[in-house]
Amino acid sequence: MERYVINGGHRLAGEISIQGAKNAVLPVLAASVISGKISTITNIPNLRDVDMMIKILDSLGAKTHTEGGTVTVDSSTIDKVELPEELVREMRSSIIIMGAMLARFGEVKIAFPGGCEIGLRPIDLHLKGLRQMGAIIYEAHGFLDCKTTGLKGCEIQLDYPSVGATENIMLAAVTAEGTTTIINAAREPELIDLQNYLNNAGAKVIGAGSSCITIEGVKELRRCDHTIIPDRIVAGTYMTAAVLTGGELFLKDIITDHILSIIAKLKEAGAIVYANGNSLKIIGPNRPSAIEMLQTLPYPGFPTDMQAQIMTLLTIGNGTSIINETIFENRFKQAEELLRMGANIKTFGKVAVIKGVKELTGAKVSAKDLRGGASLVLAGLIAKGTTEICNIYHINRGYDNMIEILTNLGADIRLEK
Ligand code: UD1
Repeated sequence: MERYVINGGHRLAGEISIQGAKNAVLPVLAASVISGKISTITNIPNLRDVDMMIKILDSLGAKTHTEGGTVTVDSSTIDKVELPEELVREMRSSIIIMGAMLARFGEVKIAFPGGCEIGLRPIDLHLKGLRQMGAIIYEAHGFLDCKTTGLKGCEIQLDYPSVGATENIMLAAVTAEGTTTIINAAREPELIDLQNYLNNAGAKVIGAGSSCITIEGVKELRRCDHTIIPDRIVAGTYMTAAVLTGGELFLKDIITDHILSIIAKLKEAGAIVYANGNSLKIIGPNRPSAIEMLQTLPYPGFPTDMQAQIMTLLTIGNGTSIINETIFENRFKQAEELLRMGANIKTFGKVAVIKGVKELTGAKVSAKDLRGGASLVLAGLIAKGTTEICNIYHINRGYDNMIEILTNLGADIRLEK
């Protein structure tokens, strides 16, 4: 089984360029279904989740071509409306293809995605919104069978600013009759990227990035080119690595506005950050300070996707820190692995109390989910001795070229098969 082997104790220093955002690519690829024309999408990271989404498009009959960081999707040839169950089960976020398929074909059949490593992850808000627009959805035998004789724009008040539900409704509304308004919409930057893609293709969407998004339905979309935004979570992960190792990193190709909440917490932990629009320099302290309270929240609050990495930082913080994970109910799985490395963490439901220790020690650990896996890599970078991480396929879902990047920065990390 493939694993990462890390010899800890090396300070990271150097310059890195940040990959395109996984959570922006997936909805944009799903959206490429709507036009029935060619979309050329650049700055695509090389990730397992992206491969899965491309496989799903292929299975529906689209013609896709990947070269370097560019994917071309010709969705004119799509001739199926049923998504293969095994692919949907592999990647939960494939559910965002629902809205796009309903917009294009008025029909889609998809396996119920079910829970995953980080929690139950219901899709009730997706379904409620789509039903309000005129989708008829049967839920039976583990499948969602969706049909419509024509989606109609309406006002949708989301009970919670869900990223996926906002995306699904946005996609369904693009070619619906009339205007759709999403109130209490998710405000994540990836929604702005989706809006930009759609508008490049001729849609009329305004408001993404705010809590009210308005979509005026258009007859059809045209072919378009689009470049994906930088991945704010990958940027945050490498920044945390710099802080943990007392290192110094220069990050290029980022949007600093998207990572303000991460910068704020890393500063609280003692980092020095010099940021301008598209790059930043971060310098780590000798030992990180504890963070009195870190609460994950919908954007622009602190991202749940950075919670595990910050937990690793706090394991060696000077003092006691508290994390309150408010987004997902089962997102502390990395804690038990960090305990094996000498951390002092107690979890109480969605709250974790981390008492900083002087050092972590290398151990054999297992990645349980994507960001939790990344947090173990970070732990390995500072642990005394050797850390072996198995189930690294989780990490490959979200980090392009991690070994090479960390090696170039001075880490001692290798892949063993
Ligand atoms: C997206 C991201 C994921 C990230 C998460 C939070 C993608 C592909 N995935 O996931 O990486 O960790 O945002 O930033 O972009 N909820 C409901 N009902 C619903 C939908 C969601 O109760 O119908 C709840 C969820 O259980 C969770 C919360 O809302 O507690 C947030 O979920 P949501 O924003 O939808 O996250 P995802 O879109 O699944």
